[in-house]
Amino acid sequence: MVKHARGTGTQFSNLKASIVDSLNTSILVTGGAGYIGSHTCLELLRAGFRVTVFDNFSNSDSEALRRVERIAGKKLGVVNADVRDRAALVEALRASEATAVIHFAGLKAVGESVHQPLRYYDNNVVGALCLLESMEVCGVRSLVFSSSATVYGDPQFLPLTENHPLSATNPYGRTKLVIEDMLRDAYASNADWRYCILRYFNPVGAHDSGLIGEDPQGIPNNLLPFVAQVAVGRREFLNVWGNDYETPDGTGVRDYIHVVDLARGHLRALDMLQQGTSGQCTAVNLGTGRGYSVLDMVRAFEVACGQRVPYRIEPRRAGDIAACYSDPALARSLLNWSATRTLQTMCEDAWRWQKSNPAGYAT
Ligand code: UD1
Repeated sequence: MVKHARGTGTQFSNLKASIVDSLNTSILVTGGAGYIGSHTCLELLRAGFRVTVFDNFSNSDSEALRRVERIAGKKLGVVNADVRDRAALVEALRASEATAVIHFAGLKAVGESVHQPLRYYDNNVVGALCLLESMEVCGVRSLVFSSSATVYGDPQFLPLTENHPLSATNPYGRTKLVIEDMLRDAYASNADWRYCILRYFNPVGAHDSGLIGEDPQGIPNNLLPFVAQVAVGRREFLNVWGNDYETPDGTGVRDYIHVVDLARGHLRALDMLQQGTSGQCTAVNLGTGRGYSVLDMVRAFEVACGQRVPYRIEPRRAGDIAACYSDPALARSLLNWSATRTLQTMCEDAWRWQKSNPAGYAT
């Protein structure tokens, strides 16, 4: 692993690194100001990495990065640029002396992707292509890619293992699948590449400082941010999309995972890539292996916030599936990683963030 002579004394103080080799190693994080990106940047700083965020702030707030620096007591490098800008990528890779990239930058709203598919292909697929080309130009070989359980489509069996057949049911999911295929093809053509594809289940919660968390623009599509906004009084009630699924209480079942557990999974993936003796292209689930229903989530959130969360049962949401949860065994054996935070902690942390930042970073 390449180490850099550059760096400040503060990077060596207060070190809580579990990965000794992270000392002063430089990582480029695209989309580092977003929800999962900001939590991952924080864990990287705490572990002793030098971190450069590459973000166009189209769906994120630079305040998140100031708060990450505040919690870590360390500085981030920040490049305000679009991931489709090859020249800016090459410059950022060279200037930061990055030895690996974590790629979060992308659009992620399923409904929006149905109405604006070309925008999704451009941002997500073209963005990933520009990144891979720029990495090749700069000789940076290691990449952790932010994928999603959405690539499993409608589950044929549960829990979902990494070798479950892949398919997509909407343009957003298709962009993730195309990028995964692009990585597999690139690796097949050159076995020097080191790729780890992380397939996230449903990330929720926030850092326990309450300083960073999920800050969706407009009406939240996802369950937990919506529930949190009901609890804080921004919305009147939750719409529960269907209670006639083949699940224990009829509502949809998902594998919710604490965002800090998820963020730490990225450090384990980096570690695996950089310690490995050869190239690879490996896909790994990041989930807890447990499913909870919409009503389980509402009840857990009510306990966390100490008040009722009113809801109404509505018809099913188009494109939703009954149940989806991971088999997390590969992450355990390959990355030595497993999720440790409980459903109650997920809800308590999400609530702490929401009540101290009722309007997100805008407050
Ligand atoms: C959704 C996306 C998925 C994406 C993921 C990102 C769809 C179909 N899938 O997953 O591709 O990777 O977000 O986190 O959009 N629910 C309600 N009321 C709400 C919101 C959600 O009842 O207001 C229910 C849903 O029906 C579902 C569960 O809560 O059963 C979770 O929904 P959500 O948070 O949107 O995640 P997914 O649909 O699993």
